[in-house]
Amino acid sequence: MSSTTPDNQVHWFRHSSPYINAHRGRTFVVMLAGELLDGPRLATLIHDLALLNSLGIKLVLVHGARPQISARLKDAGIESTFEQHMRITDAPALDGVMAAVGALRLKLEGLFSMGLANSPMHNASIRLVSGNFVVAKPVGVRNGFDYQHTGEVRRIDVDAIRQQHNAGNVVLLSPVGCSPTGELFNVNAEEVASTAAIALGADKLILMGNDLRLNDGSDNQLRELSPQEAGKLLAEDLFQDSNIDRQLTAACHAASNGVGRAHLLDANVDGALIKELFTRDGCGTLVTRETYETVRGARIEDVGGILELIEPLEADGTLVRRSRELLETEIHRFAITERDGMVIACAALYPFPDDKTGELACVAVHPSYRKGERGAQLLGYVERRAREQGLNSLFVLTTLTAHWFQQQGFEAAGVDALPGARQSLYNWQRNSKVFVKPL
Ligand SMILES: CC(C)(COP(=O)(O)OP(=O)(O)OC[C@H]1O[C@@H](n2cnc3c(N)ncnc32)[C@H](O)[C@@H]1OP(=O)(O)O)[C@@H](O)C(=O)NCCC(=O)NCCS
Repeated sequence: MSSTTPDNQVHWFRHSSPYINAHRGRTFVVMLAGELLDGPRLATLIHDLALLNSLGIKLVLVHGARPQISARLKDAGIESTFEQHMRITDAPALDGVMAAVGALRLKLEGLFSMGLANSPMHNASIRLVSGNFVVAKPVGVRNGFDYQHTGEVRRIDVDAIRQQHNAGNVVLLSPVGCSPTGELFNVNAEEVASTAAIALGADKLILMGNDLRLNDGSDNQLRELSPQEAGKLLAEDLFQDSNIDRQLTAACHAASNGVGRAHLLDANVDGALIKELFTRDGCGTLVTRETYETVRGARIEDVGGILELIEPLEADGTLVRRSRELLETEIHRFAITERDGMVIACAALYPFPDDKTGELACVAVHPSYRKGERGAQLLGYVERRAREQGLNSLFVLTTLTAHWFQQQGFEAAGVDALPGARQSLYNWQRNSKVFVKPL
């Protein structure tokens, strides 16, 4: 079945509704790196941002302008000098900055005004408001270098931005700030974005760049980092691309200063923004302080913690008994949620590769941590693992928890829906109900 059939669309739309509800009324700061503003995906990105606005998300859009400024200066025969990754902006260079930034602002205003029938922006009528929201101060003279019109963010006019949000407008911030003396300063777009996110108490900072993908040493994408882990990566100076360095620094700064989640997204992935915000798996790298609680594959040293968690549930018959020995041999099948070194939730996946299905078993959340969607989160992790193993569905046998599984998208099925090898082990005395979830 193609992914664009009406049935799939309905399925996707239904499954995105929890995210739609969760995001409504929230403040997101989204930064588009300058490279994207001349790239082929810009119009689609604007459509996606317009969609977020129409779903009630309060948006601040920050745009970069580095390549456009470089191009203007090159055309004017001005050579840029950089110190500490900052462009030294003298008076002629400032003219180039203003021209580049002004042109980009107008380009974005134009794109947000599009309302053609048969386009995703039809009837959207979005007002994109820019203004003197960024207050800057000069970097000054450092190590003997006068940075002239290169500035730092001093303050963000939070009240003025909130007024615009209350009126339903999208706020646009440029990498230029005004000083109380009336001067203009060229500032770093990533700094504008992270400072605005912190000042607004934003729920998310989303940084989008060209090929913005963070991989580990084995080329696997890093999906979640704590600010400490991100700081370590930055200290190791791993990134060849200084854009990634700046973007990760901004994410790290925001996540360390009260912004719940900072996302790094590769804008070359079609629909990256929508995938990240409206699907459980997302597609980017998340920097968040909340990682003191992690979901991960279980290791042998977790056996004790898992036993402690499941023993009361085995005793009251909710879960089938497992010996320590069995648990030790099957530990690689388990996923756990660890909080401050304690196992607070677990689940196991027993694959039946020939039938392209897997059994979800031993799902348990510590009583003190229930109703925090940890069960759902762990299930999401197991589903990802199952998909990675090429499985098309999960099934579960339960006596007491049928409704919870139904809420998680499982559907009632008969014992004959089980793979043959599992049917022969079915315990008719326990009389568990069978539920199946397609992946
Ligand atoms: C089922 C369980 C894993 C859910 O974990 P959780 O982290 O609390 O799950 P979530 O936060 O995602 O969902 C919580 C919701 O599920 C509901 N729920 C929990 N157990 C339920 C059950 N047995 N039947 C129906 N709904 C249930 C809660 O009431 C809550 O609903 P609410 O938000 O409307 O108040 C957890 O309750 C648990 O460990 N139960 C005991 C073990 C168990 O039954 N395991 C399954 C064995 S097959």
